[in-house]
Amino acid sequence: MAGNVDESTSLSELRPLPSRNPNAPALKSYVTSMTRDYSRISDTAVAMDCYVISRIESCLASIRHTLATMPPCTPFVIADYGAADGVNECQLFGRIVNGIHTANPLLKIRLVYADIADRAPFETFWEQSPLSELDYVEAEYIQGSFYESLVPEGSVNLGFSSTALHWLDTKSRDAAFFRHPDCIQANQIPMPECTRFIETWKSDWRKFFYERSREVAAGGMLFLSNLTSLGADQWPASAGYNNLRDICIALCREGRISNEELQAIFIPDYFATPDEMRALVGEDAIRQHFSLQRMETMTIPCAYFSRMGNSIDDPRQRRELTHTLARVVRAWSESSLRVGLSRGHAGLVDEIYSRLEDRFYKEPKGLPYQYCLMELKRRELREPDSS
Ligand SMILES: C[S@@+](CC[C@H](N)C(=O)[O-])C[C@H]1O[C@@H](n2cnc3c(N)ncnc32)[C@H](O)[C@@H]1O
Repeated sequence: MAGNVDESTSLSELRPLPSRNPNAPALKSYVTSMTRDYSRISDTAVAMDCYVISRIESCLASIRHTLATMPPCTPFVIADYGAADGVNECQLFGRIVNGIHTANPLLKIRLVYADIADRAPFETFWEQSPLSELDYVEAEYIQGSFYESLVPEGSVNLGFSSTALHWLDTKSRDAAFFRHPDCIQANQIPMPECTRFIETWKSDWRKFFYERSREVAAGGMLFLSNLTSLGADQWPASAGYNNLRDICIALCREGRISNEELQAIFIPDYFATPDEMRALVGEDAIRQHFSLQRMETMTIPCAYFSRMGNSIDDPRQRRELTHTLARVVRAWSESSLRVGLSRGHAGLVDEIYSRLEDRFYKEPKGLPYQYCLMELKRRELREPDSS
């Protein structure tokens, strides 16, 4: 079965559709899973790892003595929240695992990959992963939301999440909440209308930290590489989101999709600002469990655009680049787009991304990712809050 599916087909597409009026947008909740080729076109997200690895390695160095004296009967648990298929973090986890093993060769290491997506892509990755060959490493995939409880209390020593915490909790929210007449993403919506998404993001992050406060062991760490908005159009892949919005509006004007579909096409994520993130983790309910050790913002240039240099004027290379950029956008938007389109219009998906490619060709724009890297420590029990 999997062999018959186009590589760019999103996993959500494989789910059976409910039988209902084929001209109405689907009313199922928004799906935030990536297309199957995600790990092959996410070089910009992977580039972030080199910043994270140095932070994690210095943290491991600072707890070297604790690691060396940990009893071998209890594994050291690393949890990846929003791991997708696990591929992108393979090198990073390889380095972390190596650091822990060097400090304590008797210690078992347990990798917990958590994501709402199907487990099959993870299983394919794990079968081929060099990490699976290490007899001191075991792995588990948990299909579930990071806004819910995922692992036993106090079991996680190192929690990690990259490029995932901007997704809002679609599972516990009515699909109607995400509708908007002409924007397809929260960061496009001006204030004060955007407030309801900011409040939603805050409430979701409170859930995330509540669950992690139960899961992360006292003294354990959380490393979060969060996509962020640095103001104006400096938010992740804004050119991709904005082009997609303009294409959907044009299709509606041309009578190719209905107003109802335009309203329902929505990518349910929000890129909070660093100030919003700092304020959130400073709230008493979170601060009593986690202390913020470090926070850093940076812009990772679009990996594909940066490689082009002067070749942008070469039509063939320009076409290749723009094809890749459209695939990058498709990887994280297709599943949401399909929710908005009626069943009868599912065939428009290819046309939308082909129009996107043409727009990038006419006016090439990179897709840089702005990040806010946060490092938090789970307080020891009864540790006073001195911050
Ligand atoms: C852009 S991918 C990032 C994957 C990987 N961490 C990386 O850095 O490349 C975001 C992932 O978050 C997952 N995700 C979104 N909302 C989630 C939720 N509520 N719970 C668990 N995973 C979620 C998506 O399914 C997707 O696999």
